Amino acid sequence: MLKTLGKQIKEFKRDSILTPCFMILEVIMETLIPLLMGSIINEGVEAGNMQHIYLMGGAMLVTALVSLYAGAMGGKYGARASTGFAKNLREAMYENIQTFSFANIDKFSTAGLVTRLTTDVSNLQNAYQMILRMCIRAPFSLIIAMAASFFVSPRIASIYLIAVLILGTVLIIIMRFAMKYFSHLFEKYDALNESTQENISAARVVKAYVREDYEIDKFKKASGDVHDLGLKAEKMVILSSPFMQATVYICILLISWVGAHMIVSEELQVGDLSTLLAYCMNILMNLMMLSMVFVMITMSMASAKRVCEVLNEETTIKNPENPVMEVKDGSIVFDHVTFRYNENSETPVLDDINLKIASGETIGILGGTGSSKTSLVNLISRLYDVSQGSVLVGGRDVRDYDLEVLRNQVSVVLQKNELFSGTILDNLRWGDESASEEDCVRACKMACADEFIEKMPEGYNTRIEQGGTNVSGGQKQRLCIARALLKKPKVLILDDSTSAVDTATDAKIRKAFAEEIPGTTKLIIAQRISSVMHADRIIVMNDGKVDDVGNHEELLGRNAIYREIYEAQTGGNRDFDENGGEH
Ligand SMILES: Nc1ncnc2c1ncn2[C@@H]1O[C@H](COP(=O)(O)OP(=O)(O)O)[C@@H](O)[C@H]1O
Ligand SMILES: [Mg+2]
Repeated sequence: MLKTLGKQIKEFKRDSILTPCFMILEVIMETLIPLLMGSIINEGVEAGNMQHIYLMGGAMLVTALVSLYAGAMGGKYGARASTGFAKNLREAMYENIQTFSFANIDKFSTAGLVTRLTTDVSNLQNAYQMILRMCIRAPFSLIIAMAASFFVSPRIASIYLIAVLILGTVLIIIMRFAMKYFSHLFEKYDALNESTQENISAARVVKAYVREDYEIDKFKKASGDVHDLGLKAEKMVILSSPFMQATVYICILLISWVGAHMIVSEELQVGDLSTLLAYCMNILMNLMMLSMVFVMITMSMASAKRVCEVLNEETTIKNPENPVMEVKDGSIVFDHVTFRYNENSETPVLDDINLKIASGETIGILGGTGSSKTSLVNLISRLYDVSQGSVLVGGRDVRDYDLEVLRNQVSVVLQKNELFSGTILDNLRWGDESASEEDCVRACKMACADEFIEKMPEGYNTRIEQGGTNVSGGQKQRLCIARALLKKPKVLILDDSTSAVDTATDAKIRKAFAEEIPGTTKLIIAQRISSVMHADRIIVMNDGKVDDVGNHEELLGRNAIYREIYEAQTGGNRDFDENGGEH
């Protein structure tokens, strides 16, 4: 963990070293001041030596100024190092997240990743600043003040030593309790974050199902948990304050009492007493600081662990050593493919699949939800890797290709598709950065997206809001198809991508595909039989296995599942969709 975090600190090594150096300088100056003060009283005021008072007063002023400067510099470098550290952490995490495969993404929740990138990094930033400024300063100051006290009067200094031991023990007990609460608190924070993220992003669904009250209650509970634990933890921490105060005052009383006696019996000078009182405050303050630093470090440990998990996560899908840079054609072969999302699960999601698809063929894929249609096609562009067997595209194992080359040639319109904030053109150019406006218009024509885009106030320059909220489901699907077409892929996969498009438009899109991109292998997953019945062949999936492969007529004759779906959707009327589904 230290090594992982250390890598992100390296850039700010100078700042990280300068901070404690300046803090030590500050401590030395702070320790000198009470000594100078004592000297003014002893040799100046008592002896009536004005010159000594001026000299020592001047020295005090200089020490105070140096201390001020050191403190300010320590603060400056500390802030530079810790904010730089946080920036590097965030960037490194973000960069690594970009390499994540689908399997990696499955492992972390979105809410979890966001919390790690924000709250956890902030925790680490604060902790690092605290460590740089206090970790060396506090113990150093404590020891040096203690040593100086022993130098002035060992008898009175031993009072501190006892006070430090007592207060130290009490603080340790308090902090242990506080830490327990704090670590629970972080778990509750996670729950709160997840509930917030999930519900705000699905706010529309919540409204549609009139679940607001339920969600408010759920949130109140999560928020209440955080409140309760936060209160307990803070109460514990606050408890240390009266203990601290009491110890300080008792010490002052004791020192004054013992000191007064010693002054009367001329064992101690008046100035020494004022020096010792100043050290008393100093020592106990630093002890308090030290305990805070410990709490802070423990609290940030959980964050550090979570940040390192993201930084050290290795992508499950890597580029091969000598990648093949060209996909010859759009043929696809599944050779004894078995696939599991989780290595340890008993039943595979795909079980011994064997398929041969020729380049340019149009393949329909049909099957109930959960029959592994999506899982099947996700293997083709290596969104996941097979568990056993192999998937071949253009005659080569997909694992031999350069990932970018493969994914450019195998274009997938995901079932859960997304648009990004930006204009329609920006979104389309995700498919091909250098696409001209004419290319974009042509792709949109094929996907039947041009008709609604042209009706929009700013046409192709209309802005899409975050998550594509200002276009309808069907419009979004058509834009996503156009985006995939712009890649000019050899294999085009549509995963239930026309489910929200009316049947007439659906038919028009299929017709455009057949005419405009005849050489492209097309895999069309659909729920509607009308979307796949004209395909060269149709794969019927059932429970992770290929139930049957054939064309519409063949399947209608021999496959029970196919016939059942067909009859359920058409009521046995064979003319269904001959005119694009309009009776
Ligand atoms: N990311 C995932 N992690 C674990 N299991 C998954 C994941 N995606 C799908 N599954 C499981 O795999 C099976 C097939 O899902 P899927 O391929 O999405 O089916 P379909 O697309 O036919 O509806 C389902 O049982 C589903 O629960
Ligand atoms: Mg699916």
